[in-house]
Amino acid sequence: MTIALIPGSFDPFHNGHLEVVERATLQFDSVVVAALRNPQKSEALFDLDQRREMMAESMAHLPTVSIVAVSTLLVEVAKEVNASAIVKGLRAVSDFESELQMAQMNRQLSGVETMFIPSSSSHSFIASRLLREVARYGGDVSAFVPPPVDRALRKKFEEGTL
Ligand code: PNS
Repeated sequence: MTIALIPGSFDPFHNGHLEVVERATLQFDSVVVAALRNPQKSEALFDLDQRREMMAESMAHLPTVSIVAVSTLLVEVAKEVNASAIVKGLRAVSDFESELQMAQMNRQLSGVETMFIPSSSSHSFIASRLLREVARYGGDVSAFVPPPVDRALRKKFEEGTL
């Protein structure tokens, strides 16, 4: 049984992430998507539980996918779920440098390999950071995120969290 582990901050989960998960389901028997903290990034918009809920709704159509949201090391999750490989999406060369470094560190720590799925060009400009910014100022991001995430962003910024 092959198990892919797809980690990320997913703050919030968007259509580029969804594409990577959907394509991974075609290559692995099951896929675990893990929302984790990225200590390199500033304060999160959604807490881990909120992210898990949105992701579960957004991927309800994918029966081989499960979701975890934990504040721990990725390699601990890889061990826990018995991952065959870590899978990440690559949008552009600019993603590669930090992804390569994390892949090498994770392999040194655990022996687990990282595999990359290149995102389609229609998704390559989508970034959670930009979605947060556009949504914060009232822009429409519904073309870039699954409906549950769109609803959560609207609610968040209706509350006046500028
Ligand atoms: O979506 P991101 O922010 O590129 O994902 C980065 C993430 C969350 C996968 C990375 O920061 C991570 O693995 N965080 C968990 C803590 C950890 O294991 N850090 C060591 C990374 S080599």
